[in-house]
Amino acid sequence: MHGALLIRGGTVVNADRQEKADVLCVDGVIAAVGADAAALAPAGTEVIDASGQLVMPGGIDPHTHMQLPFMGTVTADDFYTGTAAALAGGTTSIIDFVIPDPQEPLLDAYRKWRGWAEKSAADYSFHVAVTWWSEQVHADMGILVREEGINSFKHFMAYKNAIMCDDETLVNSFKRALELGAMPTVHAENGELVYLLQQEVARMGITGPEGHPLARPPMVEAEAANRSIAIAGVLGVPIYVVHVSCMEAAQAIAAARARGQRVYGEVLAGHLVIDESVYRDPDFAKAAAHVMSPPFRAKGHQEALWQGLQSGQLHTTATDHCTFCAAQKAMGKDNFAKIPNGTGGVEERLAVIWDAGVNTGRLTPSEFVAITSANTAKLFNIYPRKGLVGVGADADLVVWDPKASHTLSVKTQHSKGDYNIFEGRTVQGMPSHTISQGVVAYAQGDLRAVQGKGRYIKRPAFGPNFDAVQRRAATLQPTPVLR
Ligand code: URP
Ligand code: ZN
Ligand code: ZN
Ligand code: ZN
Repeated sequence: MHGALLIRGGTVVNADRQEKADVLCVDGVIAAVGADAAALAPAGTEVIDASGQLVMPGGIDPHTHMQLPFMGTVTADDFYTGTAAALAGGTTSIIDFVIPDPQEPLLDAYRKWRGWAEKSAADYSFHVAVTWWSEQVHADMGILVREEGINSFKHFMAYKNAIMCDDETLVNSFKRALELGAMPTVHAENGELVYLLQQEVARMGITGPEGHPLARPPMVEAEAANRSIAIAGVLGVPIYVVHVSCMEAAQAIAAARARGQRVYGEVLAGHLVIDESVYRDPDFAKAAAHVMSPPFRAKGHQEALWQGLQSGQLHTTATDHCTFCAAQKAMGKDNFAKIPNGTGGVEERLAVIWDAGVNTGRLTPSEFVAITSANTAKLFNIYPRKGLVGVGADADLVVWDPKASHTLSVKTQHSKGDYNIFEGRTVQGMPSHTISQGVVAYAQGDLRAVQGKGRYIKRPAFGPNFDAVQRRAATLQPTPVLR
């Protein structure tokens, strides 16, 4: 029993419409939306006054790394602190990544991550990375999809000598994903080029964080985006490109979509508002705090990403929340290639995108809902359970005060990271309340996250895309010439 909660007097915003409506949540699920909701509320129902505010689906961050062992260290936020920070910012679900070491069975890694994630305060799910190929990987992918509710597999095209996939693995894994009805996803950067450029940049005497973007220019990302999209196109499988950071990669996606291919792109809040000048900060700690891949880009790329979201050629927003503290970043003091890659943002994503997206007229509130929750729920087949304010959906909601403003800072963040890439940015629009499973998890600055309250969310295979790709393949099936 979770009890009942009535959110009264607000404007409900979904991806397809907005309307004045009350929302009643009972036992963790939305029981009523509309004028009759109050009348249906049982005795003792808790009431939130949402007048002047918006009631939206809680954010879904489809790209986080809590408690990730990476580049010789482990991220500062674990599944509890990271999801608690998410709840403080209005995000009620995350999709994190199981990342097996090469040769490690996928199921072993999956079980390890499931154990770590039991601490989560918010609902969570996993993409599983395919970092090597064998018959066992082929079999484990099947078990993960059929028994464990995994419907997406991640491929790192960068990080040579670690978790990078070669083309053989991409081809085998994409083909397997297609037969299982699971979405292949890619970190698109050409890892061979990155490896070469890192050495060339070092030979120029550049050892600091300013070398990081030089070793990972936009064409390195565009090449991998184009290659993975081409492989997916030949095989007839949909593909999702994570953290699209530059105009060239966005163009690769748009061009493929114009050819009729099912390609989807994710954008990080950081890439939308931060540019590459951060890497030239004279303070090593500040510059290193921004080292993540793909890097922040030259001015101009940010606008291209906004245009991609606005035009519908890019689909979701995420953070790639992957926090490392200054002492960890210092592992690369003399060699930028050794700085652990990653930045935070799970708490700030909604406010940053609302402020820079909706307040500037780039996005409508409904478009905001689409790119912060609904599209992700649809692509990863958990819609309408998540991503919708509607009867029967999970009562994961954010009550959004569009007039309230605050200044983002490491001093007030809940994440355990010791840096905030949005430091000093004043944003207008923030959650007054976050509701997770029908219970208030955050109210006006009071974070009530409960360790272990988050549930593992299974995602069924064969989402709506797959019926279409199967029909398309059948329609285009070549026939032999009968002689
Ligand atoms: O720099 C990043 N993005 N770190 C996390 C791993 C990844 O590439 O997503
Ligand atoms: Zn097979
Ligand atoms: Zn990545
Ligand atoms: Zn990532």
